Amino acid sequence: MVIKGLKGVKAAETVISHIDGVNGRLIYRGLDIGELTKNHSFEEVSYLLWHGEWPDHHQLLQLKNKLKKHRELPEYLENLLISLPAEMDFMSVLRTAVSAAGPLNKDKPSYSDSIRLTAMMPTIIACRKSHLEGRPFVRPSAELDHVENYLYMLNGEKPAESQRKALETYMILTLEHGMNASTFSARVTVSTESDIYSAVTSAIGTMKGPLHGGAPSEVIAFLDEAAKSGNIEKLIREKINRGERLMGFGHRIYKTHDPRALALKSVLLEIASKDEWLGLSLDVETAAVSLLQELKPGRALYTNVEFYAAAIMKSIQMESELFTPTFTASRVVGWTAHILEQSENNTIFRPESHYIGRMPVV
Ligand code: ACO
Repeated sequence: MVIKGLKGVKAAETVISHIDGVNGRLIYRGLDIGELTKNHSFEEVSYLLWHGEWPDHHQLLQLKNKLKKHRELPEYLENLLISLPAEMDFMSVLRTAVSAAGPLNKDKPSYSDSIRLTAMMPTIIACRKSHLEGRPFVRPSAELDHVENYLYMLNGEKPAESQRKALETYMILTLEHGMNASTFSARVTVSTESDIYSAVTSAIGTMKGPLHGGAPSEVIAFLDEAAKSGNIEKLIREKINRGERLMGFGHRIYKTHDPRALALKSVLLEIASKDEWLGLSLDVETAAVSLLQELKPGRALYTNVEFYAAAIMKSIQMESELFTPTFTASRVVGWTAHILEQSENNTIFRPESHYIGRMPVV
């Protein structure tokens, strides 16, 4: 029997994360995601995903210092970033740069390389962006933490605390999400005993596809349309009656609230309660959830992570071409955690195909 898309197939055992779609829970290393975003930093949660326990003061400092050290790209990589054709999209640039970054040795996938890969992503994005805009590259700051430094390199100034918090919450919530397509790619690549840079390169290539790295851009287009319509309820009713999907609603696994959407909404209410875009998002959510209950009863359709990610991106004025690269800059932590787990206890992935072609005539 062929299971198309391997839907429902459990392809590996993992202790990294668990998605409970029925109860709307996402668990990183035994801890509920909502709790993790309240009092923890990107660095702490990354350490937790890599090691399965919280860092102590010294371990956290060491991790921060290593991330800072690897923010600076080697000269040949910076030259590569400015020599790639201007029309090359950001995800292809990221994929090419990561491929060119390693391996520098033949060691097994390591924690050190996981840190290096995580550290270099924001710099690759910011360096390429400044080059495309024809302005000098704002070099990484050794003073700032990971997320703050990313915004600093993009905008040339230290971000406001609310902006830092918005992006850091988004990045923590998107660090990891089970055996999604790009994580599976990374695990398949490293299962051949290939290196960690090749595995992350495979993962970026997989993330690039619109069915996976789906950015919140389509939600922004939907909300723009809602704002212009003058009658949100009428617009949504017409869309559902025409059989259209409301962008930012529904999820393949979560058949209740997506816990990431709830966590993003909660941080937005805290930092941007007077924001016009957030007000619009809340109005659209209220109207859509009630109309979906009326017109699609029993389907349990609620906002997904993309819905409030759109409001987060708006609140930090991130340009849409950077949405998927930014998602990648956080997901690299989940990929590398899975790569380390796969290589610790490896069996090569080698499924079979069911031949339905012609046979030789005997
Ligand atoms: N708007 C309106 N109706 C919807 C929506 C939606 N967003 N999502 C599902 N439905 C309806 C379908 O029309 C279908 O109705 P029917 O039973 O009358 O035919 C029913 O709900 C079930 O639909 P499926 O496609 O079987 O649901 P599935 O769980 O497989 O779909 C998906 C999940 C693809 C995410 C879907 O909800 C969707 O297209 N959403 C909009 C796009 C979106 O927001 N994508 C981002 C997802 S989050 C992420 O990937 C990180």
